[in-house]
Amino acid sequence: MKKIAVFTSGGDSPGMNACIRAVVRTGLYHNLEITGIVHGYEGFINNETIPLVAKSVANIIHRGGTILKTARSASFFTIEGREKALENIMKNSIDGIIAIGGDGTFRGALEFSKICSVPIVGCPGTIDNDLIGTDFTIGYDTAINTVVEAVDKIRDTAESHDRLFFVEVMGRDAGLIALRSGIGVGAECIIMPEKKTDVEDLIKHLEGGRKSKSSKIIIVAEGDEAGGAFKIAEQVKQSLPDYDTRVTILGHIQRGGNPSAMDRVNSSRIGFAAVEALLDNKKNVMVGIVNKQICFTPFENAIKHTQQLDPDLLRMLEILSL
Ligand code: F6P
Repeated sequence: MKKIAVFTSGGDSPGMNACIRAVVRTGLYHNLEITGIVHGYEGFINNETIPLVAKSVANIIHRGGTILKTARSASFFTIEGREKALENIMKNSIDGIIAIGGDGTFRGALEFSKICSVPIVGCPGTIDNDLIGTDFTIGYDTAINTVVEAVDKIRDTAESHDRLFFVEVMGRDAGLIALRSGIGVGAECIIMPEKKTDVEDLIKHLEGGRKSKSSKIIIVAEGDEAGGAFKIAEQVKQSLPDYDTRVTILGHIQRGGNPSAMDRVNSSRIGFAAVEALLDNKKNVMVGIVNKQICFTPFENAIKHTQQLDPDLLRMLEILSL
């Protein structure tokens, strides 16, 4: 193996730059030439490449976003798009590829592997934490901390006005950002797609809730089947008009910001392991960290993210949020 390519794809996440840095520095250590593909899969199709040297990744470990840019490519999901990408990979003499992204990225990689024999190794980059084969995806920890910081501020104003706040968080169809951040902010209730939402139960819970706190925070995962924070808040307002209710959608602030120390360290470990995995002839696997150990999961297993939420956490939540 002489030359490898690295790209970021899908939604950006804090820690992607730290991962790119680790890939480049590890590759150089092993005498590899490194090419950055700009704008994810679109960059393969349009042949947008940049050479990456040690200096290209200096002073990026602390920066959010991705220096390689990213995109959600519709063209790559057509056979013509993938064939064009393959043509450019051959033209650039690329012997191995490191894909930093989430579910959609690995689905794309899996599909691509049907026509492309160049090995691909994945690094889990998404704030959603919705991949099997890693305890924490790159960016998840930072996103949770962003939510916690924002909700702490909301709690101040909620407490001053004795208000009920519904705060909607990201996660696509997974509730893992909601669960962990909700525990972290002491939410009165967490509404997640993995747990059936009964708005009537929520109303009873709010009616009977302890009076020790005058403010109440309900965290709502954007993917919940009950239809998002505005819709749930509306239903609650009709049954409990005495509550002074407000809704906040946190949105894309959850994707930005400097990566946490944990994300920087995990990203570095994952990027480092990804290059060594390519050199070790691994292909179509995602690098993850489970119980502090590096491990490898085939793409097809990594993307089956119908995770059961930890029942112990759910039981604890029930007791602590009363
Ligand atoms: O996958 C990351 C994520 O931030 C999800 O949590 C969210 O549903 C989605 O991306 C938003 O995507 P976009 O930035 O394309 O609107």
